[in-house]
Amino acid sequence: MRALGVVVVLLASLLSPAASPATASGGHEVTYDRHSLSVDGERVVLWSGEFHYFRLPSPRLWRDVLEKIRAAGFNGVSLYFHWGYHSPAPGSYDFTGVRDVDRLLRIADELGLYVVARPGPYINAETSGGGFPAWLKDLDGRARSSDPDYTAAYRDWLGRLNPIIARHQVTRGGPVIAYNVENEYAVNVDTAYMQDLQDQARAAGIDVPIVHNNCCDGDLANWSSGPGAVQIPGVDDYPVGFDCRAPDAWGQGAGVTRRLRDDGPVYAAEYQAGAIDLHDAGYDACRDLTGPDFMKVFYKSNVIESGATMFGYYMAYGGTSWGWLPQPNDVYTSYDYGAAITESRQLTPKYDEFKRQGYFTTTVAPLAKTDPAPAPVPADPAVFTRARSNPDTGTQFVLVRHPDRRTTADVATELDWSTPDGRYRVPVRVNGRDAKVLVAGYDLGGQRLVWSNSEILTHVEVSGRDVAVLYGRDGEQGSTVLRYASEPTVRVLDGAVRASYSGGDLRLDYTHSGLARVLVSGAGRPPLLLLLGTDETAARFWRLDTGRGPVLVRGTSLARSAAVVGDRLVLRADTDRADEVEVFAPVGRLSVGGRTVHVRRTASGSLLGSLPGPEPVRLPELTDWRHRAEPPGAGGSGWVTADRTTTASPIKPKTLPVLYSDDYGFHQGNTWYRGRFTATGTERVVSVNAITGRRGQYLVWLNGRYLGSAAGGTESDAEPVNPDPGRGDFAVPEGLLTAGRQATLTVLVGNMGHNDDWTADDVRHKQPRGLFGVVVQGSGAPISWEVRGSRPNDGERGPMNTGGLLGEREGWHLPGGGRGWSAPPAVAEPGVSWYRTEFRLDLPRGHDVSVGLRFEGEPPRDHRVLIFVNGWNMGQYLGGLSPQRDFVLPEGVLAEHNTLTFAVIATEQLRGGPGPVRLVTLGNHRTGADR
Ligand code: GAL
Repeated sequence: MRALGVVVVLLASLLSPAASPATASGGHEVTYDRHSLSVDGERVVLWSGEFHYFRLPSPRLWRDVLEKIRAAGFNGVSLYFHWGYHSPAPGSYDFTGVRDVDRLLRIADELGLYVVARPGPYINAETSGGGFPAWLKDLDGRARSSDPDYTAAYRDWLGRLNPIIARHQVTRGGPVIAYNVENEYAVNVDTAYMQDLQDQARAAGIDVPIVHNNCCDGDLANWSSGPGAVQIPGVDDYPVGFDCRAPDAWGQGAGVTRRLRDDGPVYAAEYQAGAIDLHDAGYDACRDLTGPDFMKVFYKSNVIESGATMFGYYMAYGGTSWGWLPQPNDVYTSYDYGAAITESRQLTPKYDEFKRQGYFTTTVAPLAKTDPAPAPVPADPAVFTRARSNPDTGTQFVLVRHPDRRTTADVATELDWSTPDGRYRVPVRVNGRDAKVLVAGYDLGGQRLVWSNSEILTHVEVSGRDVAVLYGRDGEQGSTVLRYASEPTVRVLDGAVRASYSGGDLRLDYTHSGLARVLVSGAGRPPLLLLLGTDETAARFWRLDTGRGPVLVRGTSLARSAAVVGDRLVLRADTDRADEVEVFAPVGRLSVGGRTVHVRRTASGSLLGSLPGPEPVRLPELTDWRHRAEPPGAGGSGWVTADRTTTASPIKPKTLPVLYSDDYGFHQGNTWYRGRFTATGTERVVSVNAITGRRGQYLVWLNGRYLGSAAGGTESDAEPVNPDPGRGDFAVPEGLLTAGRQATLTVLVGNMGHNDDWTADDVRHKQPRGLFGVVVQGSGAPISWEVRGSRPNDGERGPMNTGGLLGEREGWHLPGGGRGWSAPPAVAEPGVSWYRTEFRLDLPRGHDVSVGLRFEGEPPRDHRVLIFVNGWNMGQYLGGLSPQRDFVLPEGVLAEHNTLTFAVIATEQLRGGPGPVRLVTLGNHRTGADR
């Protein structure tokens, strides 16, 4: 946990590469060396999880998620900042409401979490344009370079954001401990740009270490030396990739973070903690791919094999790519990511594994400074060992796993282990995909741990007594050896534990099962309560910091925070069922969620009580739908003449004028086009090319007659450019056009979001959206075009909420929603139909209920649904084109009285409206009044 005390450190010079000066009252000094970061001289293992505030449009829930991240044992968060989310137009920026990043940093500060600030300007992150504002597509200069117009643009962004980050640095008493420039900037690089990003940061007062997240092996730039180098270059690693269809196929990825500089710590900048669902397997499959077994094997291997002491697990909580946030090639609305905390903010078995590893990492201080050490030799070579030791304390950390991480064999053997306290034969077992980090020679509070083949969860000191939780897999043998000058008194309070004392060693032998309890006292050391659990029972513990030191809580579905007030532990905790609660704290009384809990003192010296579960949730049915049609190309105002003959896009159109929506300032969502020409009567076929991004489509009408639809082009790669993207040919119906009369072609083109610029070649992200070419075969008549798209901003909901549907422009998606609504027709014509209803939520007070919208029935292929809740675009139901059926509706977007509005885009006649849909409970926890 981050030190919250006030220490003033003033350093004479900025010059030391290894120190960030504390510049103001309340600030702390941040330094680093080859082992770790240090704050005020105290080493820190930075164990952080990634969180995207822009994927949770509810600042109140930022605190909820950050509390959950903290409760999992993380001491930090990595935060991308999304340029495009804040900037609807050049020079226009908004940091209010759901974009209030100052508030975000304040919350992180209040929770005592360190922050790695990652302001890009490019962030990738499977978000539209990789975080670039879409207006950047209109600049001539190459993005991610020192081209003048790009430079002016990013300096404007950083010029606004950097001061906010700067005032929240650890050196000024805040949470920001490191500053990440650019993102996986490895190919097509420009060192002057990389240097300028750092110069801009320094000029804005950023004085914490500057870091970078390198993506790739080989000769590509990693910014560890030379011009543009950063102080702490880190490495991103996704060792099991993104194919969630085969969660057990782990592939060959080594997953060991490379050391890039000798004078700084090894930094696992982004380490895989979930996956994008590249092949539509659904995020639960991604959670399996990256589940507890993967976490044990890869994370523990990485800690010991690389010696990394800085970690950013991507993602701790993924969230929702609401509005037009998704980058279309890799993701759909949900960015659940298969993360430890689900999109609806529920905790999963992955969360438990994070807790087991995070508590260990942030408890056992000698881990912050280790060097490779000789590893104990296993009697059976089917077990693989690696070791590190702390040069000051001698504490050893030994990794035990199979040589091939994918092996599922069950191997039990012995290690010949020379510990700091003597040579021992230590039994170990690796059953299936498992890895352990065993510790020897550790001063555990007032105790001396000689070795254990159980793993350490955590330990605290309560009222002069050490309380330690150790664990192993259910049914596995365990032994723990502690050193005493004389034989101590051992009382087994619970479970089957054999104790023996010989030659200074107290040896405890047991089988991991449930939760055994052993009290050891006397022999010149403080008493020790040893709690010996399984993976599952260990994960029921929570370690919470209080003004009187850390305490332990067992039970509850989440323990958010604790304070010792007089003789009382004031606990903020959630329950998802009626359950017992046990606290190990220097108190005699307990309150949870603002209510006193009746407790009794146990033989373990703890307090034990019970807590009620949540009340049931009743959600209303969605009934009384109203309907409103959006006639193709309707509405008089807002049309812009489309007559440009040049474009900044490197991809030039097939026909002129240029009809790319971005060139006319329409950057998000759907865009209407209207083309007028004089008919000759000889027209045969309308040939259209449109580029939409993956899963996009367009619809075509001629003189009000629906001609059909086609899938839009994707063309996510720069080369080769498809000369005929998103082609659709539509026959002109006999007799529809009359020679000499004006004909009107109307097209609705979806824009599924902008490509990223991962390769920094400026081509992919500048790939156009909208019409690429239109030819009326059989006619040479010129077409005069108009285009109408999104408004640049949607007030509090920001620039990425709405596209250019008439209903969006006129506010049909907003509460109120205007007049003109009527009973839905039995059959709606192809095109855009709006539906709306209202509902009232009556959720139990003092509960955290997560509500979702579920589309049921056979996923359609002939329509898609834009979902607006109280005006917020909470995503796009794509029917059979994506696996997503549930849409998470966060509190804050949801209120007591709600308006649900659908814009349904149908490529065929729509019978029976948008289909069966209902509200569902995705989580229900009693939180108490003080959440
Ligand atoms: C990394 C990138 C992240 C994200 C991740 C995959 O390469 O830095 O922003 O895109 O891949 O989810």
